[in-house]
Amino acid sequence: MTPWSPKLGAWPGKADMELVTTIPEVRQRLDAVRREGGTVGLVPTMGYLHEGHASLMASAVADNDFTMVTIFVNPLQFAAGEDLESYPRDLDRDLEICVAEGVDLVLAPSVDEMYPTSIETTVTVDRIARLLEGGSRPEHFAGVATVVAKLFSIAGSCRSYFGAKDWQQVAVVRKMAHDLSMPVEVVSCPIVREHDGLAMSSRNVYLTPDERIQAPALRRALDAGLTAIASGERDPTSVEAAMAAVIADASRATLDYVAAVQADTLTADALLHGEVRLLLAVHFGRTRLIDNDGTVIL
Ligand code: PAF
Repeated sequence: MTPWSPKLGAWPGKADMELVTTIPEVRQRLDAVRREGGTVGLVPTMGYLHEGHASLMASAVADNDFTMVTIFVNPLQFAAGEDLESYPRDLDRDLEICVAEGVDLVLAPSVDEMYPTSIETTVTVDRIARLLEGGSRPEHFAGVATVVAKLFSIAGSCRSYFGAKDWQQVAVVRKMAHDLSMPVEVVSCPIVREHDGLAMSSRNVYLTPDERIQAPALRRALDAGLTAIASGERDPTSVEAAMAAVIADASRATLDYVAAVQADTLTADALLHGEVRLLLAVHFGRTRLIDNDGTVIL
């Protein structure tokens, strides 16, 4: 085998990105990379990739010798009545984006490959997964934690990249990796936004033209919360009220939750202090959007 040569910046045979669909193929490939001293970056996705995903891939490619993207719409993280069937899919376009970003390998497994029999083992993260998103979507994080645990097990020792838009997801995955001593460094990457402030999301395509016009209300609500804090407000309830008022002004929006919390625990102390995170979830018709931002109170 040609020896690994970081100086060349290329894995022998890297010129063409590989598309694989089975777990053993991936294990073999990544084991070979590590045996030759290469590092592995993992970007888990559900496909229908956008610039937010591209930024995760760019970070993974910059930090590692070999980058794998996974594309898998994970049925476990959708509750009955959610958008599993209608979740947007476009594998050909996704692959073009991966090639453009310099990804080495894409794993796009079938549901049968990931869950060949009805599974009896799931991963449940406790306190931090029951808050906020967990309150509105009680089964969601067990589905996320289970599939990410499987992807971490398949990938082995690696750095794995997640978007900060799903702030709570990053916290849940980080806690799981830490608690289960997984050999994975969880890297959180900045939110990528449209020109008008709407956070990029595969689900934005569900928005009707009218809803799309109003959707940047989430960004404005975060700005209202940040402005309240900058003006000296420390009561989390008052900061949340300032955020909620912006959403109330958007006729097509229905607030699911709004939270001004400590960034580490995702719960509010009596007065906000130190690193603070503002989070919200809003329904526009059948589309549910989430967003967040943070600040540090000195
Ligand atoms: O953020 C997502 O797209 C998904 O929750 C993830 C992490 C790929 C797990 O299915």
